[in-house]
Amino acid sequence: MLLRIHQALEPQELAQVRSLITGADWTDGRVTAGGQSAGVKNNQQLPEDLAAAQQARHMVSVALARNPMFVTGALPKTVYPPLFNRYGAHANSFGDHIDNAVRTHAPTARHVRTDISCTLFLSDPADYDGGELVVQDTYGEQRIKFAAGDLVMYPGTSVHRVEPVTRGERLACFFWIESMVRRDDQRRLLYEMDMAILALRRAGGDTPETVKLTGCYHNLLRMWAEV
Ligand code: NI
Repeated sequence: MLLRIHQALEPQELAQVRSLITGADWTDGRVTAGGQSAGVKNNQQLPEDLAAAQQARHMVSVALARNPMFVTGALPKTVYPPLFNRYGAHANSFGDHIDNAVRTHAPTARHVRTDISCTLFLSDPADYDGGELVVQDTYGEQRIKFAAGDLVMYPGTSVHRVEPVTRGERLACFFWIESMVRRDDQRRLLYEMDMAILALRRAGGDTPETVKLTGCYHNLLRMWAEV
């Protein structure tokens, strides 16, 4: 399931995150790449331990935790602390790859299975050319270039790339989620059910049927969740 979360960051949060990271010391993005992806990766990243990266990461984490769409779409168990990247000039693309299945957060030695990959766009699409995130999913290629502040989540099993940025620069935040529900098809079913129940309750309030459906949602989640 490929899901867009509109305004995961509100405008003032976006401005603050951007100002924190824009002037920071960026390094070669290959530091977090696996063997195959290192060969096709050509971008820059913020070192994880940089004070600016830590502050920006905290702001993103707080914003995501309060976002009901993010929570219901991802059913997060563990979120890898968000990272930041920059594409532009000579470090401007990332060819086809699949993200490593397990990321280990070095400072805490915690493992995160990457069920879901996320990109949070931090640059206005009018400020750069190229830079589309291209994700191969069941229905073909999706070319994604969202408004600044919007987030996309997609299955970690997908081959994806970032097209060369040919003008301006593209700032983004990226991270992975280990979900309480490992399988994408089960997460999709739960998400669609949750949205349908929400719409029914909005339209007609609580009825014996919505109570029953809500129970079905939780019983499916109980069946599938690993916590
Ligand atoms: Ni990737």
